[in-house]
Parts: sequence; structure tokens; C-alpha cells
Amino acid sequence: MKKYKRHLITSALPYANGPLHIGHLAGVYVPSDIYTRFLRLRDEDVISICGSDEHGVPITLKARSEGVTPQEIVDRYHAINKKAFEDFGIAFDIYSRTSNKIHYETASEFFLTLYNKGIFTEKTTEQYYDEEAGTFLADRYIRGTCPHCGNEDAYGDQCEGCGSSLSPTELINARSMISGGKPVLKETLHWYLPLDKYEQWLKEWILEGHREWKTNVYGQCKSWLDQGLQPRAVSRDLDWGIPVPVENAEGKVLYVWFDAPIGYISATRELTPDWEKYWKDSDTRMIHFIGKDNIVFHCIIFPVMLKAEGSYILPDNVPANEFLNLENDKISTSRNWAVWLHEYLADFPGKQDSLRYSLCASAPETKDNDFTWKEFQARNNNELVAILGNFVNRALVLTINYYEGRVPARTVILPEDEEVLREIGQIALNVENAIEAFRFREALKEAMNLARLGNKYLAEAEPWKIVKTDPERVKTIMNIALQITANLAIVLEPFLPFSMEKLRGWINTGKPAWDMAGNPDILPEGHLINKPGLLFEKIEDDAIKRQVEKLHAGKQADDDTAEEIPQGKETVSFEEFSRIDIRTATVLEAEKVPKTSKLLRLKIDTGIDIRTIVSGIAEYFEPQSLVGRQISIVANLEPRKIRGIESKGMILMAEDRDGKLVLVSPLEKVNNGSVIK
Ligand code: MF3
Ligand code: ZN
Repeated sequence: MKKYKRHLITSALPYANGPLHIGHLAGVYVPSDIYTRFLRLRDEDVISICGSDEHGVPITLKARSEGVTPQEIVDRYHAINKKAFEDFGIAFDIYSRTSNKIHYETASEFFLTLYNKGIFTEKTTEQYYDEEAGTFLADRYIRGTCPHCGNEDAYGDQCEGCGSSLSPTELINARSMISGGKPVLKETLHWYLPLDKYEQWLKEWILEGHREWKTNVYGQCKSWLDQGLQPRAVSRDLDWGIPVPVENAEGKVLYVWFDAPIGYISATRELTPDWEKYWKDSDTRMIHFIGKDNIVFHCIIFPVMLKAEGSYILPDNVPANEFLNLENDKISTSRNWAVWLHEYLADFPGKQDSLRYSLCASAPETKDNDFTWKEFQARNNNELVAILGNFVNRALVLTINYYEGRVPARTVILPEDEEVLREIGQIALNVENAIEAFRFREALKEAMNLARLGNKYLAEAEPWKIVKTDPERVKTIMNIALQITANLAIVLEPFLPFSMEKLRGWINTGKPAWDMAGNPDILPEGHLINKPGLLFEKIEDDAIKRQVEKLHAGKQADDDTAEEIPQGKETVSFEEFSRIDIRTATVLEAEKVPKTSKLLRLKIDTGIDIRTIVSGIAEYFEPQSLVGRQISIVANLEPRKIRGIESKGMILMAEDRDGKLVLVSPLEKVNNGSVIK
């Protein structure tokens, strides 16, 4: 008996203003794909929906900066991203787009239904208007001086210099990004979704009714609801988007976060004439896969829209993930700090599963997580190659060698065999439970335990040692090893679809089915298997080194350098400055402080005395390279004990934007103890 009649899986529609990177895959699309594939293996009625989000101000900004139309931008990235998903085996039933006609119709109808039901409130506010260009200005089109930090390039909604969130009217000397001129305030009318009226209902629905949601999701909803909700405008003054479908709304479009989630509905309509049963039958279970920055839209705003419309179902779960970092730094498109999917594939052709594996194994399920190339390599080499690939290869090659590829009979079963057969069943169950709870890391780990089990079993039973003396025993062992292999081909399918397809080709099994998972008799006696190839290849050090270098070489400073160069400090009087005794000195000896990675102990000649300074620069300098160098020090800094060593003074360094340290030394050699002033 199936628990749900059908499933509707949605994955956040990525903006079509740039290519996809590993953060997208790890946070949203690998999880949604695993879940969808799992349901398909269980032969559930499931559809998986995605597409490009093609509206919103960032797209118009990008178009403007390139001097092309927004449509050209979204056409370009829609094609690139659609292909990237296909290449990585992300098996949506449809990858649609919100510039489609069917979406315009669906979103307009949706708006009109709410409008005719009198759901919206209307409000006139004053907004910045560019008279030269004849257009209202979205927050991102306005720049000016931040009232908090003085950054002259703060945006209308946020200052990247100090991080404050702003409203455009707070900016000093606001200027239009379109004409460069000074915008004026002008009245404009907008439609608002009265979230406040749904607060009580949301509290019951989420806080009472969905305590099972992930803690990060539930917690964010609770804090929004505790703060109290305000009406939200669902229209904008913009020339890119879906026109507000009522009279007297010239120049106004639907707010991108109003139209985009309706994109899930439009895509379903495009996919099947039967779309209504997925959206309007309460027997459908809807799941939204998203990243954490989308939680409020999928848990609060879109549900309110659906509820207000009245004929739609609500999501049953919203398993949002946190963010993935890259080599200890935030992934950033503008700084080009990312691993782009199309570039990965060009550098590692055919290795989609290695990335899928690594991203799932370190997915940011409960907290932000870090992707490093080193860890990627280790996961590939030590897990995929050494555990999974190795086991499968042994099981298949031995079967070919001993029995010309025919599955041998299982004859006498020893207690250790029974134990293994029982564990196969247990592991399959564990994988299933973890997937159902959206704990994909755990599920993958469990599935890999099956390969570990297989390796251990073969290593202990050592069929190669007894194949001559005890051929009957070896038949049983190999039969069980093959059943493990056949089980792997099922339980790992959602995670490693490309490799498991290969594997199924070698073991000659057809379409996989989850109800066979855990079954110790998948391959009947006499079943013929084929000669296997390599399931995974080792990734060498130099390939990893190249990736790390490429990443650092491509790194760009932020648009807004204010973020990276620390703001100036407060002024000090000359009197205060002259109390600091800065002098030249020469390094006489340098050595690492034992059992630390960062500290150097330096013996230096200050011209006044010979003294010891402990400095946290061991990661940047070879101790020997410092000996003999003339440097600058703060000579009268209060002495401190560091790791039991008394340190008298401080070495002066310049730290550049990406953390590199250089010594501050006089350009010409001078006497030690010369005063720097
Ligand atoms: N484009 C949004 C983002 O990438 C996600 C939109 S999800 C949808 O953050 F529900 F609105 F479609
Ligand atoms: Zn600021």
C-alpha cells in the first residue's frame, strides 16, 4: 500500500542571469534529484518540475551592462542551464521557463483571481522616478551615499560597504543608474498581499501542523511569524516582467517573487493536460526543494497565495538546505569564486557522479558546509574508487574467471553468510528511511556501507585462496558477493545514476526497482554477467592542483572594494601617535615554535638590545628566509607571554586584500634602532 497517491516535486527555479555552480547542485538539485529518482524506483506517481526564473531586476541590470535585451540574456542562460542539468543527470520531467506564453497566462489568471476576490489591498506610495528616462527606479537602479558609513556607491536597498539594509529615500544624494541624473519622488500605486491577515492561519499550519519540518526551516518560519507579518507589494514599476493584468496599470509588472513560484504551476500545465490532479487534489504530496534564502517565499508568501486562491494544495514539506562554501570562502558569482558546472564537465568529462557523490556527501543539510578540491579528490579516490569500484570489480572479475560469467549456486550457508544476507536487508531499509527523512548524506553513507560490507566479506572469506580446495564454498561466497553488487545497483541509483547504469549493463539487470532492494536473490543461478570496465577512475594530484590554481587565478575583487579594504580608523593626535616607538631592526635567528603551525620565534637586533619576538607568520615565511632581513617593529608594545615565550614587541606587516602578508622594511639599509616617524 502506498503512503501517498502521487508526488509533485519542485526545485527552485534558478535565475537565468548566470551559469550554475556547485552550490546550486549541492543545495537544491542533487537532493531533489535523489528524492525523485528514489520515488521513481518505488514506482510512485511522481513528477519533477523546474525551469528558469526569467524576471527580476538583476536580469535587466545584466542586460543593460552588456548592452543587450533582457530576452537575450535569459535565452542564453536558459539554454546553458538546461543543458547543465541534463549533463549532470538531474532528471526533471520538464525544464520550463517563465518567459513562456503559458506562464504569462497562468500568472495573469492567478493574479486576477486574487484581484477579483478582493484579496489585495491597494496603496499609493512615493517612489523615485527618473524624469529623463521616464521610468520609476527599482531599488537596485538607485545609488547614493550610505547614511551609516559614507560609502558613495550604496544601493537603494543595501549598502555593501557596511552591510546595512536601506530604503532608497535614506540615501544621501541619490542618483539614477539609468540616466545618472537626480531622481524625483513620484506617487505610484501598487497591489499588496496582506500577509498579516494570514498570520494566524500560518501559525497553525506551520508551527502547529508542521513540526516535522527541518529545524532550520521551522526556525526561520517561526522567527518571521514571531516578528509579525506586513502586507507585501506584488507589483513593481518595471518594463521587464508580466504586465499587471488590470486597467490603469501601465508600466507595472508582477513582482518576480509573485510570478516565479506560479512558474511551477505553468510548467506542470505545459507538461501534462492532467496538471490539475497534481495541484488540486489533496491526495498529492507537494515538496519544494530550495536553498535557505528562499524559505520565506516558499513557506510563507507562496502558501498564502495558494491559500487565498483557494483551489490549490499546499506544500507538505520544504526541505531547504543551507549554503555551500568553496575552499573556505563564500561562493560568489561577482568575484568569480565558484566551480561552474559546464567548466567542471569540460575538465572532468564523464565524471558527473564523482561530483554528485562529493556534493551529496558534504551537502549543507543542517549548516553551511565547505567544498574543497582536496576533499573531492579524497572522496573520489578513497571512497568511489577504493571502496565501491574495488568491490564491484572483484566480484565481477572473479565471477568471469571462475564461472565464465554465470552466477553460481548458493549451496551451504554458514552463519557468517546469513549475517551478511541479513545486513543487506537492513542497509536497504536504512537507506530508505534516511531518504524519506531528507537525510541524503546519511542515506549515501548507508548505501556505501553495503560496498564496505562486500569488501569485508570477500577479504574475510578469501575465495581466491580456497577456490581449488573448496569450490563449493566459493560458489556460495561469489553468489552472495553478486547479490550485494545487484543491490548496490539499486540503492545507489538515486545518487550515482551514470555509474549504476553502467553497472546494470555489466550485471545484465533491467530497469531497477526499489522493492528488490534488500532482496538476497536478485540474480538467479546461471544468470550471465558481462565483462566489466572500470566504474571510477583515480583523480591525480596535478588535476586537483590545476583546479585550485584556476580558482585563485580567476578570483576577482568585489565591485565594491569598500567591502574588502577595511574602513579607515578614527583619527589620533600627533601626541598619541608619537607614543608608539617604531624602529628598524634585523632578524638574527628564526625558528618555528614547536607544536604550533603559525608561530615563529624570532631573535632580533633592535640596535638597543637583542630580544625575542613571537610572531604569527609561520604560514607565510620560511624561517630561514627571514634571517638577515631588516624589518620594522613596534618596540614598546607591552611584553606578552605566547606559548610560554616572552615576546617583546611586534613585527610590522602589510596584509593585502587576499590575506597575503609582506614585511614592511626600509628601502635602504639603515642602522638598527632608527626611529620610524
Ligand atoms: N530564482 C530564485 C532564486 O534563485 C528562486 C525562485 S524559486 C520560485 O533564488 F519558486 F520562485 F520559482
Ligand atoms: Zn554603509
